[in-house]
Amino acid sequence: MKLTHDAIERNVGLLVILTVLVISVGGLLEIVPLFFQKSTTTPVEGLKPYDPVRLTGRDIYIREGCYLCHSQMIRPFRAETERYGHYSVAGEFVYDHPFQWGSKRTGPDLHRVGGRYSDEWHRAHLTNPRDVVPESNMPAFGWLGDNKADADGVGAKMRALRRVGVPYTDEEIAGASAKVAGKTELDVLIAYLQGLGIELKGR
Ligand code: HEC
Repeated sequence: MKLTHDAIERNVGLLVILTVLVISVGGLLEIVPLFFQKSTTTPVEGLKPYDPVRLTGRDIYIREGCYLCHSQMIRPFRAETERYGHYSVAGEFVYDHPFQWGSKRTGPDLHRVGGRYSDEWHRAHLTNPRDVVPESNMPAFGWLGDNKADADGVGAKMRALRRVGVPYTDEEIAGASAKVAGKTELDVLIAYLQGLGIELKGR
């Protein structure tokens, strides 16, 4: 059979196979270079992998679905940069597996929230948002203060992240549980928030 346009359009199976082939090649050509481009693989100056406490807090952020209402992605528009600060760049997310960019903003973007408020403010806000922002419709997360953070699991998480390229040392992993021990889920979540986006703050 001659492989003319006509023949392909009349043969559904062949059309599907060739369509998938074309989309796959197109997709690979777009995606694969991103793994090797300097601007997406080089950490910005001063960026460090999450310490054990912040890493544990990050998992609380994911578990509680904070990303469903909050993005961590400041777009390069004036309305965004005047409100939040420097727009987000790829080099800030190289240690994020998976990243928390989000796509829905019921609340404000949190990418540069690090250092904007005191720890006490976050504690009050997360315990009952209405106490500090009367018109807030954010849910309260008060029980996080009663839960002990998962100190035993953090070493395994760091080992897993090391496999995908996060440069944790053996000493850091060995000492990780001790750093998290005794802290509540609220403590570690606040530590996570306080370190967000600080590398490009004020630029
Ligand atoms: C149902 C949507 C919703 C969820 C889920 C949610 N938030 Fe919010 N958040 C909001 C809204 C709305 C605001 C703005 C009002 C306020 O400050 O309380 C806000 C504000 C904030 C602020 C203050 C930001 C600023 O720049 O003033 C922080 C920090 C924050 N949220 C953290 C969190 C964390 C951490 C979680 C998960 C434990 C979370 N939020 C879950 C809706 C949400």
